[in-house]
Amino acid sequence: MIAKLLLDRKREGRELAAEEIRELIAAYTRGDVPDYQMAAFAMAVCCRGMTDAETLALTTAMRDSGECLSWDDLPMPTADKHSTGGVGDKLSLIIQPLAAACGLAVPSLTGRGLGLTGGTADKMESIPGYVAGLSLADYRKVVMACGCSLTVQTGEIAPADKKLYALRDVTGTVPSIPLIVASILSKKLAEGAGTLVFDVKCGSGAFMKTREEAAALARALVDGAKGAGRKACALVTVMDEPLGFAVGNANEVQEAIDVLKCESRAFDVETLSVELAARMVSLAKGAPLEEARAECRRKLVSGDAYRRFARMVELHGGNLEACAKSRLAPVEAADVTAGESGYVQSIDARGVAEAAFLLGAGRARSDEAVDFLAGVDLGVASGDRVEVGVPLARLATATRGGALEEAARLVRDAIVIGPDMPASRDLVLEVVE
Ligand code: URA
Repeated sequence: MIAKLLLDRKREGRELAAEEIRELIAAYTRGDVPDYQMAAFAMAVCCRGMTDAETLALTTAMRDSGECLSWDDLPMPTADKHSTGGVGDKLSLIIQPLAAACGLAVPSLTGRGLGLTGGTADKMESIPGYVAGLSLADYRKVVMACGCSLTVQTGEIAPADKKLYALRDVTGTVPSIPLIVASILSKKLAEGAGTLVFDVKCGSGAFMKTREEAAALARALVDGAKGAGRKACALVTVMDEPLGFAVGNANEVQEAIDVLKCESRAFDVETLSVELAARMVSLAKGAPLEEARAECRRKLVSGDAYRRFARMVELHGGNLEACAKSRLAPVEAADVTAGESGYVQSIDARGVAEAAFLLGAGRARSDEAVDFLAGVDLGVASGDRVEVGVPLARLATATRGGALEEAARLVRDAIVIGPDMPASRDLVLEVVE
């Protein structure tokens, strides 16, 4: 394989053979193809696209660049959910134990966040004692013991993606559907779950801003996963407003716990969690969707899903009692109040996420620490009636008190109040099977 010749052909828009792509990725992972050639390849893919066969070859080559887990020794079916990421997106914390309570094993390797808010691993690490960085052997033991584990992805999984994603991040080559599909799927396929359900978010707080882009990504992810032999479906879900009321890390964990205990009014979080978990259960067990939905609701109401979550936290070394207390730790806080009376028309996800970021809830560089107690707790949802002076949101930070004023301005601007009750929104925009 001569990288320069592959680059010439890709630049001219010609199709590469699966074997050529495999060799390119293997050579790049070994360090035999330098970053500048791989960056040129990524840019050529951005401009010229890839055929389905090329995308599948890239995906499987990246999957095979590291370890591929197998769960064949488990007696139950395996499934996982992947979200393209949104504001207040704590769904994994609910869905993974809920699906496990329904009899699936949910091996879930997850990420630390880079950007406006923390990733699932950051959220879990806000629980005192919780260790997200397990070895693959310990991760397997936790899945075996309680059916689910939220463990941070290790370097053994899809190392080609780790290298290529860092390169794409600095070369303007992130927004390419074949590259995104290969990146997401290579990791999910290496994890080994037999069923994959994708939550492709769409809107101001998402990676995909338009419904067309989100639907195209959903289609490509489902086709890619099926092409690699998995059962798969995707939901395109709305991400114009934060999910639930909590945006941050520790406060999102608390909200997830409240949903698991059926003690929350974050109905969007509950509804989407049940819907996504039901899709996993239905596909993995081959059960009718309505039956799977009913089973998920039963497992939530009975407390089984919460007990799974608590057991998983315990197996990861976390202490849920200390978690509740950490919310009482000293923080600097500010309230945002309503400047007028009326109905909440909308809450812009992007504005709230930027505020949470200023307060310390996210990180701009991978070596930065996240402030677990920083974030925004909304007091209202779209459609709520408010009167002048009532609190709309509470902002907190343990590390960036100087940012409170600017963050409060962002949250105030994000919450739009008007005279009429707004129309209700659909949470699921499209189902791709
Ligand atoms: N998430 C990923 O894991 N990879 C991408 O390329 C984009 C989002």
